[in-house]
Amino acid sequence: MRISVIGQGYVGTTMGVVLANAGHNVTGLDIDKKKIDALSKGELYFYEPGLEEMLQQQIKNRRISFTTNARKAVENSDTLFIAVGTPSHDNGNADLTYIKQAARMIGSFMNKEKLIVVKSTVPIGTTEKVKQWIASENQGDSTGKVVMNPEFLREGSALQDALYPDRIVIGSHCEEAAETLRKIYQSWSCPMLTTTPKAAEMIKYASNAFLATKISFINEMAKLCDTLGVDIHDVSKGIGLDERIGPHFLEAGLGYGGSCFPKDVKELLWTADANHNPLRILKEVESINHAQPRYLLDKLKNSLTTLKGKRVAVLGLAFKPHTDDTRESVAFPIIRQLLDEEAGVAVHDPVVHLSKDWLDKCVKQYGDPYRTVAGTDAVVICTNWPQYAELDWAKIREIVRQPLIFDGRNMLKAEQIQSLNFHYEGIGYP
Ligand code: UDX
Repeated sequence: MRISVIGQGYVGTTMGVVLANAGHNVTGLDIDKKKIDALSKGELYFYEPGLEEMLQQQIKNRRISFTTNARKAVENSDTLFIAVGTPSHDNGNADLTYIKQAARMIGSFMNKEKLIVVKSTVPIGTTEKVKQWIASENQGDSTGKVVMNPEFLREGSALQDALYPDRIVIGSHCEEAAETLRKIYQSWSCPMLTTTPKAAEMIKYASNAFLATKISFINEMAKLCDTLGVDIHDVSKGIGLDERIGPHFLEAGLGYGGSCFPKDVKELLWTADANHNPLRILKEVESINHAQPRYLLDKLKNSLTTLKGKRVAVLGLAFKPHTDDTRESVAFPIIRQLLDEEAGVAVHDPVVHLSKDWLDKCVKQYGDPYRTVAGTDAVVICTNWPQYAELDWAKIREIVRQPLIFDGRNMLKAEQIQSLNFHYEGIGYP
């Protein structure tokens, strides 16, 4: 099958590579020439474990190529995946500018009947609009069949998630179109669920909203555990063994960030309000999440009395490990607050480099975690990069000014750290 993927972000690129790996002939399209030039050379312009190797293999196999030429990408394909971004407007509502542009572009170059697959996360009812936007630009009568096929890829494990998903959801009013997509995915062995386009759109939002709810729920429990002197790890383990609850997404800490959860929660809240059906639980989920950095900073302030003039090391800038994505990363509100309260800040991240803006604000970044923590009054862990657990904490004890650790991801072994005479605090981790 000849497939074009419109939008070469982490979703579009990953999908293109795995579709090529499954034997399809794939063209990746983007308006950004720099991205296309890098991908054409087999270079990933973002960090995603394992993906670059498979990209290079598929370029070698001549199964994938990249272009900025929209006409070529549309005309030479039978199926088009739309994987462009849907950022948030200030009010939380998703901005559909790029989806609309992609749909109209498809319509204007449509030379024969094609299958159009909406991969981007779009508000409920958008797939129907995509059909209309395509038709509005299409001079002939081949408007194409439009289906919704949400993605559930996690950054940092996008390749594994794309190769071995838990499920594939196909939202389509047309059985023939759904069958074509099932054929495209025929080498995948997971359950495939066919629904209406609206239900498929809703499944994506509801999945992320539910996972976000699990995180805020466990964070609420963790704060109560702090008060009662209970270890949240035991609680997560104990409740996670109940098959109805499951063990995942019960890690307490600084809360969720990234390009999806915050944005998708906001959009669902907006849609619900706009339809006079407010989602009360989800509103709380969002506000609990928003308060998590403050909660850890309060612990820090309780120990240091004042932040003014203190030096604080922040370990981790990425919104989670194994990615260089810092969108909605909790590290930044924490750094901002530390600067506002006149603390000196030194940061480390294995892959993220601070922008000039932050460096201009006198935040120091070091390539070495030991240099970062040297001479500081407190260490705050914002991202659970596994290498932080492997650090020589005995050595760190020797080089810090004050032995205080605030572990925003509950990733260190409290007993081991305390045995080195550190004052250690996690979240729900006495
Ligand atoms: C998420 C969804 O998992 C994925 O299905 C969707 O397609 C895109 O959004 P991603 O944003 O890559 O993926 O990250 P994920 O691994 O889900 O983590 C999101 C955030 O939640 C991170 O900030 C992570 O640190 C936090 N988290 C996760 C917790 O705080 N506790 C947990 O138990 C799990």
